[in-house]
Amino acid sequence: MKAVEIKPDIYWVGAIDWAVRDFHGYITPNGTTYNNYLIVDKQVTLLDAVKHDFAEVTIGNIKGIIEPSRIENLVINHIEPDHASSIDKIMKLIPDATIYITEKGRKGLERYFDTSGWKFKIVKTGDILNIGKRNLLFIETPMIHWPDSMMTYIKEDKLLISQDAFGQHYASASRFDDEFIKCFSVSELEDAVRDYYANILMPFGALIKKKVEEIQKMGLEIDMIAPDHGIIWRDDPSKVIKAYLDMADGKADLVVVIIYDTMWHSTEQMIPPILQGIKDEGVEVKVIKLRSTPMSGAIKEFWKSRGCLVGTPTLNNIMFPSVAEFLSHLRGLRPKKRIVGAFGSYGWGGGAVKEAYEEFKKMGLEVVEPGVQVVYRASSEDEKRCYEFGREFAKRMKEYHGKFL
Ligand code: FEO
Repeated sequence: MKAVEIKPDIYWVGAIDWAVRDFHGYITPNGTTYNNYLIVDKQVTLLDAVKHDFAEVTIGNIKGIIEPSRIENLVINHIEPDHASSIDKIMKLIPDATIYITEKGRKGLERYFDTSGWKFKIVKTGDILNIGKRNLLFIETPMIHWPDSMMTYIKEDKLLISQDAFGQHYASASRFDDEFIKCFSVSELEDAVRDYYANILMPFGALIKKKVEEIQKMGLEIDMIAPDHGIIWRDDPSKVIKAYLDMADGKADLVVVIIYDTMWHSTEQMIPPILQGIKDEGVEVKVIKLRSTPMSGAIKEFWKSRGCLVGTPTLNNIMFPSVAEFLSHLRGLRPKKRIVGAFGSYGWGGGAVKEAYEEFKKMGLEVVEPGVQVVYRASSEDEKRCYEFGREFAKRMKEYHGKFL
């Protein structure tokens, strides 16, 4: 797709990756985009690059606007390879350009590339680069989500180039939110935002809240947010800012998600009575089987819901491998403000449910215990216990949810 003018003389020159389905393990059913932006001013400036496979695409898009050798400045907001791995190819075209980057960004780039001969200018929050009619203000955003990360604000255009923040993994021919929702739905876009946040940004909620509040205190007028993935926000960027503040606060739906796996259906057969118990407390339930769902989809559903029940059979005295993988992945994302419990079947020794609770406690989550376990297969008595467990869990979740309203 050719370049798109997003503001006068500011162009999206990125690439659409319709095909990617495995983004470093994060499953991306809708593909993604690698967005970068070209400003044609007295000093032509390129903000960010793209994934190496798409170097020729962005170079082609730039050539559709200007001769690339006219680029004097390259701003690198983030060095993760999905954005920065084409820098060497771009720098071959603009060897005299100056790279504006954070100190940590520069150190990181030196690990990826032979940077000898590249001119760097290290920037910090508050530094301004005048490129002619425009002033580019740099705002460091360390650990949102890498140490090097920063954003660039263009005052004259009320435009925030936000790198990964506010992005979504969504390949679309639409570049803007208003275009997208004309054809698709608002909820599809909101879901993509939550998916991205849950899988990439969940650990950094406190930092995100602080940084968004800091930007708000800076009094920057923002009428467009252009992230490095997905759709650009121009309809009402304050909506995505609010969504981020809500997610950073751990906002969740009053829903229980049951995330489970099963060997011979015994753990699975515990779900209907548990689910009925939850429903009888007036709470909505969603069920996710791990081996039928990408890990990133399960993480997103966990994050959307206030409560989660994990179902796991015992295999060789420990959790079923897919459940162990899910909980390990979840622990790395440092979830907060969620209430959890576990259930499962076993044949002789047991151990999986106990292990699941140990994982929950390592994460510091609110737990409802004891969980419920059955031997081999649920009897009618066991089904009653499952039902009561579901009811009790839903009651406790409603109380817990009330703390955050
Ligand atoms: Fe899209 Fe952190 O890179």
